[in-house]
Amino acid sequence: MQNDITALSSEFDAALAAANSATALDELRVRYFGRKGGLIPALFSRLKEVPKEQKKDVGDALNKLRDRIESELKEKTERIAAEEAGRKEARETLDVTLPARKPRLGHLHPVTLVRQEVEQLFREMTYTIDPGPEIETDWYNFEALNFTPDHPARDTQDTFFVDVVEKGGHLPGAPLLLRTHTSNVQIRSMEKWKPPVKVLSCGRVYRRDEITMRRSPMFHQAEGFVVDRGIHIGHLRATLEFMIRRLFGPDSKMRMRPSFFPFTEPSAEVDMSCIFCRGAGCGTCSQTGWMEILGCGMIHPQVLRNCGIDPEEWSGFAFGMGLDRVAMLKYDIPNIRTIFENDLRVLEQF
Ligand code: PHE
Repeated sequence: MQNDITALSSEFDAALAAANSATALDELRVRYFGRKGGLIPALFSRLKEVPKEQKKDVGDALNKLRDRIESELKEKTERIAAEEAGRKEARETLDVTLPARKPRLGHLHPVTLVRQEVEQLFREMTYTIDPGPEIETDWYNFEALNFTPDHPARDTQDTFFVDVVEKGGHLPGAPLLLRTHTSNVQIRSMEKWKPPVKVLSCGRVYRRDEITMRRSPMFHQAEGFVVDRGIHIGHLRATLEFMIRRLFGPDSKMRMRPSFFPFTEPSAEVDMSCIFCRGAGCGTCSQTGWMEILGCGMIHPQVLRNCGIDPEEWSGFAFGMGLDRVAMLKYDIPNIRTIFENDLRVLEQF
């Protein structure tokens, strides 16, 4: 019996040394202490065969062996668990030298970028930024801007009307409409603030147009205007030159061509030197070296009168520019549809 105890003891030492995982240690626990066929219980059950005078010594030896196996198994199990936890921690340690994964950033829309640029340069000239309403009455979009009652722009062919009628106002019962230009802000601002005023207004405008490469029924305009004493066309020209150079580079040139708008007199259309050929003539500018960029003029005396402003004392200039077109030119986008489709593969380039 003593021999069996000694043999089991050395067998255990070898088995413990070989067991290097939690599972192997579990197997050992079963081997020595398992309810069925566990080696330690088996030895205990043989105690009854031991002669009386040896019983105490053998029993002591067996108890010692059991305690030793128990505590050594426990200790090694704990050590292996701690080592495993350590390895796991090491695996999870932050390697600061690893190149970072590039985060996916949001991008501003090209029209927003242009809008911000325009707003910023007029803010520097102390203009007030006021987007104005998109749903408008006939008065602010047409009448006060000197459009005659039979002007073709007022036709349902050109203007989107809204299914809601004007309450009170200038033409009670007349349908509201989606503004066809940002010039409505001229009237609203002159009504709100008495001159001197300097306002820049960027926003959406609507016209009943088919979608083509260059047109869309919804697009964006920037409207700028100044009313003060002694404002003349030189102020207009200098302001536009400043804007065009800021937007398209310091060597950009501009020219004014006579034109007509009901709300400005005189009126002009402004061309700037083609940004693709720098004036030499190319396919984009139809070999002229120029491209049309905006409409402008001196605010018509009747428009000032419509806002209760005396044209003998005050004068002003105004201009309106398509922001989508500026974005298309600046970022070389050939089709306006690209601007409104919002394909992320396109937007992510800005
Ligand atoms: N509102 C005009 C348009 O939409 C542009 C414009 C604005 C012209 C201001 C003159 C002065 O075409």
